[in-house]
Amino acid sequence: MKFSGSHILSISQFDRSDIERVFEVADRMAPYAHRQRVTKVLDGAILGNMFFEPSTRTRVSFGCAFNLLGGEVRETTGFETSAIAKGESLYDTARVLSGYSDVIVMRHPVSGSVAEFAAASRVPVMNGGDGANEHPSQALLDLYTIRKELQHQGRSDLDGLRIAMIGDLKYGRTVHSLCKLLCLYRNVTVVLIAPTELQMPPAIVEQLRSAGHTVLESDVMEGSISKVDIAYSTRIQEERFADRAEADLYRGRYRLNQAIYTRNCEPNTVIMHPLPRDSRSEANELDNDLNDNPNLAIFRQADNGVLVRMALFALILDVVEQVDKNARDVNWYTERRF
Ligand code: CP
Repeated sequence: MKFSGSHILSISQFDRSDIERVFEVADRMAPYAHRQRVTKVLDGAILGNMFFEPSTRTRVSFGCAFNLLGGEVRETTGFETSAIAKGESLYDTARVLSGYSDVIVMRHPVSGSVAEFAAASRVPVMNGGDGANEHPSQALLDLYTIRKELQHQGRSDLDGLRIAMIGDLKYGRTVHSLCKLLCLYRNVTVVLIAPTELQMPPAIVEQLRSAGHTVLESDVMEGSISKVDIAYSTRIQEERFADRAEADLYRGRYRLNQAIYTRNCEPNTVIMHPLPRDSRSEANELDNDLNDNPNLAIFRQADNGVLVRMALFALILDVVEQVDKNARDVNWYTERRF
């Protein structure tokens, strides 16, 4: 794909060489993301960071990534602080805000809304999550994390990957995008563990099978996570249900803790979660007793979000080769954070 000036709306835009390009640039962002070097390559540029659903990681890491490249961030959070609450259309909002920004990141509760916004925007738009549809930058950072974790174990290849996805696979946009991304690789085994009502949408299962992958579906976690490289847990997406009572029917059905991990998983199985994990007692999908498990990659995964999002900005705004020019070492305390 041509990155320069492009919207990033769906994982379907990428081919395998595009993914390699994103990962190669993400690797080059490490000195900046890890607070060893400073660059001002986006000095003067403005990111419009528009989040119409709650977010910690995506909103802050996109903003942080832009700041680390030297740009400024303007935030809109929630409909109530936007003129959308007064009836302004997405079209008008896009026409106006794209005059104030050089690139826009948007999260919206309605599937397809970020693409609708992008069609009216005069600047590149990145999808920070649109309803239950997609979360492409999350899938990129997830696969980047998988690759790094496997490299750490001495494995260089994503082909042949075995992954279990656990939880709300119907409404979980991160797993939708991740499955589409895995279709670019070969001989992947995907174990889909969900209540029958919350299984992966059939169209995505069909995409995986059409790519030649082995797809196994189960509503039981123990036993189904015994032969996987990655156990990828997800939260029940309560905000997509009619009410809390309906979400409560499923909450807490799959709880991974150290005892279950030890009993069922191979010793190197990497535990991932897009976060937030629901740590309330009635859910507790990833128990705190896993926090000292070296294979718990959830915080490395969140850290990697900054690298991947810096890479996307650098590629889309066409500054990759300028990042290192005029860079300097940092002069403040940075030990032991990464
Ligand atoms: N993974 C993710 O999308 O997290 P946030 O909702 O905190 O952005």
